Amino acid sequence: MKLRTIKNIKNLSGKRVLLRVDFNVGIKNRKVADGAKIKAALPTINYLLKKNAKVILISHLGRPTESKVKSQKSIKSKVYKVKSQKSVVGKFSLRPIVKNLEKLLGLKVKFINDCIGGKVKNEINKMNNGEVVLLENLRFYKEEMKNSKRFAKNLASFADYYINDAFAVSHRAHSSLVAITDYLPSYSGFLIEKEMKNLSVLFNPNKPYIVLLGGAKLKTKISLIKVLCKKADKILIGGAIANQFLKIQGYEIGKSLIEKNITSMSLRGGDSRRSNLMTIAQDNKIILPKDVIVAKKISGKAEAKKISDVSKNDIILDIGPETTREYAKILKSAKTILWNGPMGIFELKKFSSGSLAMAMAVAAYSRNAFTVCGGGETIAVLNQVKIKNRIDLISTGGGAMLTYLTGEELPGIKPLL
Ligand code: 3PG
Repeated sequence: MKLRTIKNIKNLSGKRVLLRVDFNVGIKNRKVADGAKIKAALPTINYLLKKNAKVILISHLGRPTESKVKSQKSIKSKVYKVKSQKSVVGKFSLRPIVKNLEKLLGLKVKFINDCIGGKVKNEINKMNNGEVVLLENLRFYKEEMKNSKRFAKNLASFADYYINDAFAVSHRAHSSLVAITDYLPSYSGFLIEKEMKNLSVLFNPNKPYIVLLGGAKLKTKISLIKVLCKKADKILIGGAIANQFLKIQGYEIGKSLIEKNITSMSLRGGDSRRSNLMTIAQDNKIILPKDVIVAKKISGKAEAKKISDVSKNDIILDIGPETTREYAKILKSAKTILWNGPMGIFELKKFSSGSLAMAMAVAAYSRNAFTVCGGGETIAVLNQVKIKNRIDLISTGGGAMLTYLTGEELPGIKPLL
């Protein structure tokens, strides 16, 4: 697979370059909590600056359209702008990233509080060569997620070239990744090139190949788990995705987090997703938690319970000690380890033991195994235990990394080939 890369552009001087990055980073108290994804975009940004281009950064942050506003009438309007919801803007604005970026680049970055329209165009027209602007969250417009041509055309009107360097979101067929390539000469950035090259090592993994999967986005991961069942020797499941599998096997999971749409669909009799989930859950390569850490409220007391003892009022928030030991033992036997997604709410100390223990195990066994970790939250766990340097390969992508490793084509990368 040969990419059309940024290096193929002959003359960038004075050119307006729309650079799609993935700045979907953790924000805490309006500050960047983990800047790994921002750092990963620097080689491409710096290259463009060296070539005297005008750099227009575009990104998403979180899923603002899934936040509260879905029930609002206004979402039905043709161009719905979540921006009108003040609390949503506060939570999902890209503005806090500016400071971090300025520090890393050593120059001023102008923030424009929208991503399409006349105001953005005016500001871009004022840009000098070698300057950087960051536009507001693309997902404030639902058109972004619908791969809208109209939205893409609007974005494209600001620039001479489009570059995708957002590997971590390239598994999504979104407007700023796919439709946009119909309107501008399009190329990949250095990060996409590097991620693809590095990850291809895992197309022929040394065995035993053990996959550790956690986090919450089962909808994204379900078909990948199916493919991984063929490639890997064991798949150890934790995090909220384990809740879904436990539920479908008939276990009580109380008030634990599950993806609503998947549950209602998967539990309807005869539904193909149900049998899909059931078949996967019963695959003997899939290992589910035997015990978990629960609490009645997130702020409440943490307690270890066997999975069969979980009650209606419990919330599962981490894997338990027995499961932690079992998973660590299996990881020890591995020659290749792939890890994506935390085992619980690792941000809270009382629910972080499972994730931290897995990070320590992966690092310790990296002496005998080739270790690959990916995804924003997984990187944040590795940062907590300060062992990132022991991991052979760290990808900025979670869902994107898994999709790539199953051999599926990433919609955002296809137009760059
Ligand atoms: C990620 O963090 O995995 C990417 O930014 C994609 O985010 P999404 O799952 O909300 O599309």
